Amino acid sequence: MHTPEPGLVQPMAPPSPTPKAGSPVTGRPGTGPLIAVEHAAEDPAGSGLEPFAPLRLGVVGFGRMAQALLLPLIDSGLVQAEAVRAVVGSEASAARLAAQHGLVVSSDPSQAWQAPVLLLAVKPQVLAAAAQAAQGIPSAVAAPAASAGTPAGASQAAGPKPLLISVLAGVTLARLQALFPAHRIVRAVPNTPALVRQGLTGLAWGEGISAPQQLWVRQLFAQVGEVLDLPESQLDAFLALTSSGPAYVALVAEALADGAVAAGLPRALALRLAHRTLAGTAALLQEQELHPAQLKDMVASPGGTTIAGLRQLERSGVRSALIEAVVAAAERSRQLA
Ligand SMILES: NC(=O)c1ccc[n+]([C@@H]2O[C@H](COP(=O)([O-])OP(=O)(O)OC[C@H]3O[C@@H](n4cnc5c(N)ncnc54)[C@H](OP(=O)(O)O)[C@@H]3O)[C@@H](O)[C@H]2O)c1
Repeated sequence: MHTPEPGLVQPMAPPSPTPKAGSPVTGRPGTGPLIAVEHAAEDPAGSGLEPFAPLRLGVVGFGRMAQALLLPLIDSGLVQAEAVRAVVGSEASAARLAAQHGLVVSSDPSQAWQAPVLLLAVKPQVLAAAAQAAQGIPSAVAAPAASAGTPAGASQAAGPKPLLISVLAGVTLARLQALFPAHRIVRAVPNTPALVRQGLTGLAWGEGISAPQQLWVRQLFAQVGEVLDLPESQLDAFLALTSSGPAYVALVAEALADGAVAAGLPRALALRLAHRTLAGTAALLQEQELHPAQLKDMVASPGGTTIAGLRQLERSGVRSALIEAVVAAAERSRQLA
């Protein structure tokens, strides 16, 4: 058995067929059997698809989101650190990130943009600058596994276009395709619980992405959580709930703990109990497939403590505030388009 070259290899098996929009393609992050690259090339699951196993991952913008996605994959060996070529905005952060994570991180975009697969994870505000910096850099060919040694910068005529995975909030496929005509584009909306492999990622596909490339992208995100295919028109609402949602839930956790401190508990204990209450409630809702109203009614006994608290929440407009927070985030995402 030959040792595979460094790369983004070992996709999760078995490959899933193209799912219906909105249906999860996996709910078991990181638990599936893994296939080494040489096996992937043999199509062990009998999918009939030509395998796709790129040997380099370019990362444009290596901030919180890119780190939340990639570091768990690197830690688990599913993405080999040697395969990553990251570019960031400043020399200082490049040096810090390279030392911290043992990756090739630079403020020079050329190596990142020569990869057959790119993760684009800059702020929407610097997209134009990043696109300008990429101009004139020859793109790689997104070669399938069988010819995965294709050198970076090889002629585009020799193979399929490289793949660009954008996680930018709000920026549409049409705009990305206009900025990056040499690439095939997929929009991904991940969230930060990917850091603990409890993420959610919505995917909307651009034109011309091959079935093996789609499979590979789904498998990549499946390593850090659940993956759903969505129409692009639903991505803003998806982001407003799942990507912005952790901030709202964190605020709720903090406020619940503040309440417990006000009622007499020590701070550290209050925080721990707040987190545990949120996690336990989410697990109960999911595992018993309860509607939230069912659970609320289960807990609120007549004349009891919980209904007294619920009455105060309604008086304070908490339900309406959360609804408006999600709507505001979706509107902001549309503005960034
Ligand atoms: N955070 C989330 O929960 C979340 C969720 C879904 C989607 N997103 C999307 O993810 C993207 C990144 O968000 P983030 O929170 O990770 O931002 P962030 O932490 O500020 O990271 C941005 C990264 O981009 C780099 N950068 C700046 N200018 C650059 C340039 N010209 N070329 C290449 N890299 C450059 C920065 O480097 P320096 O530090 O050196 O400037 C930094 O590494 C955003 O578009 C956001 O919409 C985020």
